[in-house]
Amino acid sequence: MLVDMSQIVVWGLGYLGATHAVAMASLGHQVVGVDIDERKTISLRGGKPEFYEPGLEGAIQRLVDKGDLTFNTSIERVQSPRVHFICVGTPQESANWKLDTSQLTGVCRSLGRVVGENDVVVGKSTVPIGTAATLRKILTEEAGFKVRLVWNPEFLREGSALHDSLKPDRIVIGSWASDGVEELKQVYKQILDDGTPLLETSIETAELVKVAANAFLATKISFINAMAEIAEVSGADAVQLAKAIGYDERIGRKFLRNGIGFGGGCLPKDIRGFVARAEELGAGKAVSFLKDVDAINQRRRVRVLALAERELGELKNKNVLMLGLSFKPDSDDMRDSPALDIALRLAKAGAKVAVHDPVALSALGDKHPELIREQDLSAAAKNQELTILGTEWSEYKAIEPKAFGKLVANKLIIDGRNVLDVAAWQAAGWRLIALGRNVHN
Ligand code: UDX
Repeated sequence: MLVDMSQIVVWGLGYLGATHAVAMASLGHQVVGVDIDERKTISLRGGKPEFYEPGLEGAIQRLVDKGDLTFNTSIERVQSPRVHFICVGTPQESANWKLDTSQLTGVCRSLGRVVGENDVVVGKSTVPIGTAATLRKILTEEAGFKVRLVWNPEFLREGSALHDSLKPDRIVIGSWASDGVEELKQVYKQILDDGTPLLETSIETAELVKVAANAFLATKISFINAMAEIAEVSGADAVQLAKAIGYDERIGRKFLRNGIGFGGGCLPKDIRGFVARAEELGAGKAVSFLKDVDAINQRRRVRVLALAERELGELKNKNVLMLGLSFKPDSDDMRDSPALDIALRLAKAGAKVAVHDPVALSALGDKHPELIREQDLSAAAKNQELTILGTEWSEYKAIEPKAFGKLVANKLIIDGRNVLDVAAWQAAGWRLIALGRNVHN
């Protein structure tokens, strides 16, 4: 039976949930965001997410003021049908590569107690294949009737999350016998009417699409980073190589930027979780190459340490400046961030590491006291013997090398993201080392 969905509930108000709640309310739906963390709901009611995402803060405020978006720590069972989106996190377990799905099972126990018979539950979190079947069992046990569950992976990127939610490349809906699909299509009507491709699949395919997409992206980055390793020992140039192979449309130029590698809350843990799940399914060999993808990614961080030592000798008490801490620009997310990891490794080796980031310093809080926080870029540069560009914020790309050179003690920079104009920096007297390129003077 197709019923008109009058309300949307978003369970979990982290990165994915908060953004999705805003996206759904922007489409004109009445949305309630639910999270067991009261601090989060209070702060969102005041228009503030607990993370930095361009455009999100203003949008929340506008929708809360309009009355289309509310936040709570729980909800009651109601008569009218609702669509519930599950958006909680699936972090990596601390002891191994598996994904921890306890937040999902916890939410489904609470949701099962308030879900209505005409409601549809939509899973959006990134999960190991087979999770949806377990969740449907939990929901049905708690509710006492068969709960309709569909799977609808989210592909948003941090830094452009709202845009990616409202203008996605595609919508994938996995289901058992199409149960609940029409209701979800109603929710996304506006996006689908815009011409967004829709793929209706089995539940398992929808679960797999997300991890497969992230595994492909991670593999592409590690591929070019592997080429960078070859370039470094052979005299070739990985940036030119990426351009040359990228002109082939079958390869494409996107996600072929070599540097200090990928980080964040998705790519690293998703490929590890994929390996762990495939091994459980007896198909570990099929994705064992992802262990190499991960290893290549980690080796880029070690490479920066080796370069620093090569250039400075013993690192103890050397002054080093890390430009950027977040795993990518336009985000304050430092989960598995290559820049932060390299800064910590340098500090562990005895260097005095100053860190600067346009937004991530407040998210760093008082964690890692061994790092020297610098709010001001010019002050940060003083007395530095080595500067490393770890995150390609536009502010760093715009640095004027001549003026910056007057502030540091030693005009030596490692460009970990291959974004600086080599000729301009060299003309200003800098020794510039770019990963995967043999350009240093
Ligand atoms: C990723 C996926 O892109 C998104 O579809 C999914 O929903 C969540 O995971 P995100 O984590 O926001 O999104 O980051 P992304 O833009 O993919 O970048 C990941 C990392 O790869 C960053 O650290 C970035 O600096 C690095 N990267 C990206 C490279 O090193 N080289 C590249 O060419 C591209």
